[in-house]
Amino acid sequence: MIELDLSNLWEIKPPHGLTQNEWRTLAKDLPTHLKNITTHHSSFCDILDDRETPAKIKDFVDHLPAHFVDIVLLGIGGSALGALCLEKTLYPRGARHLHVLDNVDPILIAHVESLIDLKHTLFLVVSKSGDTTETLAQTFYFEAKIKTAGLPLEEHFVFITHPEKGFLRTLAQRNPRLKTFTIPPEIGGRFSVLTAVGLLPAALLNLSMEELLEGARRMRDSFLSTDFEKNLPYQLAVVQFLFAKKGKIQHVMMPYSQRLMALSDWYRQLLAESLGKAMDRQGNHRPVGITPLSALGVTDQHSQLQLYAEGPNDKLILFLEVEENGPSLEIPHAYPEESSLAYLKGITFQQLLQTEKRGTAEALTQMDRPNLTIHLPRIDEATLGALFLLLEGSVAFLGELWDVNAFDQPGVELSKKLTKEYLSRHSQ
Ligand code: PA5
Repeated sequence: MIELDLSNLWEIKPPHGLTQNEWRTLAKDLPTHLKNITTHHSSFCDILDDRETPAKIKDFVDHLPAHFVDIVLLGIGGSALGALCLEKTLYPRGARHLHVLDNVDPILIAHVESLIDLKHTLFLVVSKSGDTTETLAQTFYFEAKIKTAGLPLEEHFVFITHPEKGFLRTLAQRNPRLKTFTIPPEIGGRFSVLTAVGLLPAALLNLSMEELLEGARRMRDSFLSTDFEKNLPYQLAVVQFLFAKKGKIQHVMMPYSQRLMALSDWYRQLLAESLGKAMDRQGNHRPVGITPLSALGVTDQHSQLQLYAEGPNDKLILFLEVEENGPSLEIPHAYPEESSLAYLKGITFQQLLQTEKRGTAEALTQMDRPNLTIHLPRIDEATLGALFLLLEGSVAFLGELWDVNAFDQPGVELSKKLTKEYLSRHSQ
């Protein structure tokens, strides 16, 4: 079970700490916020009950010829980060490799192309809008390659897109033999990891969709609870909100686990794009947001910790700690005659990792640097599913606390429009 350890926060003195009373004052607003979310934005939770999509995915994967060993995901932003996170965090089992093309950098495209054999490659084109420039460019490129190689498009391409709208849907309608999965229209990219967007890559990598969803459903029970003591996503959101109001507007996710780095990347988008907003829902100009940062324990103790400890006190550190983590590797007691090294005697790497986390968290606390810890029992599908829901739920609550729409991203439209204008001028 995932646990939230906030105890260090209560030890930090004002103005940098938080009292339990301060934190609990917002408990009374939980039912109202929850009602708003479940009335207007509940889709990211409701999809956990969709039994049809996982069944369709299973059928597709079960019938996929074994020679498809390379899976190339064409997509960007919320359409790519979830699959990347699943692959990097859970490690694929089986013979297939996933390559996520989440950019239009020609070096990346050429590199992935050099790794794959088109005959054995399945392309997953993922785009909710079906119109995203980067994804279309990648698709047109590999579509041409498949055609030139004389291979049937419908055997090598799968579209995951809007059920009705967008250019990808038009293409699919023109070629009814193309396999498609749908992204529910009401779910935005960064909340879509537990739809076909993440589930299909997961199933192709032999990961358990059912365990992912089951873990997420368990956290959903917590998210839907009107009891503050039981609602982990709201507890986390309130901490983040109150600290942001105290000027701690940079939130560092720092897992003590190599495998969870990709989760920080996924979370960075979720937090940044959902909450960085100029207007509140009443139309008042009131810019808010949290800047997400990522760091890795213990590596960044030797890189960023100096800043977190002594730089501007404008950060909240979110440690992630994993109880059962990898094999039990003991550090050899190599030089027993050296008494200065006796502290390493009989210690495993996991103990070293955990103890360094403890030392770092305590040191930051003593230096009045707010930090909390999310404890994970292990890294598996169920835990990751629960973690997705914990973080999605807390971001949804943060939107309520700030009274901003956490589900849109109007600020990125101008850059897309200008890019298209410049490209049009160039092609005339
Ligand atoms: O979270 C979001 O909505 C965005 O990051 C989108 O996922 C991203 O812009 C890609 O959009 P689309 O899935 O429409 O191609």
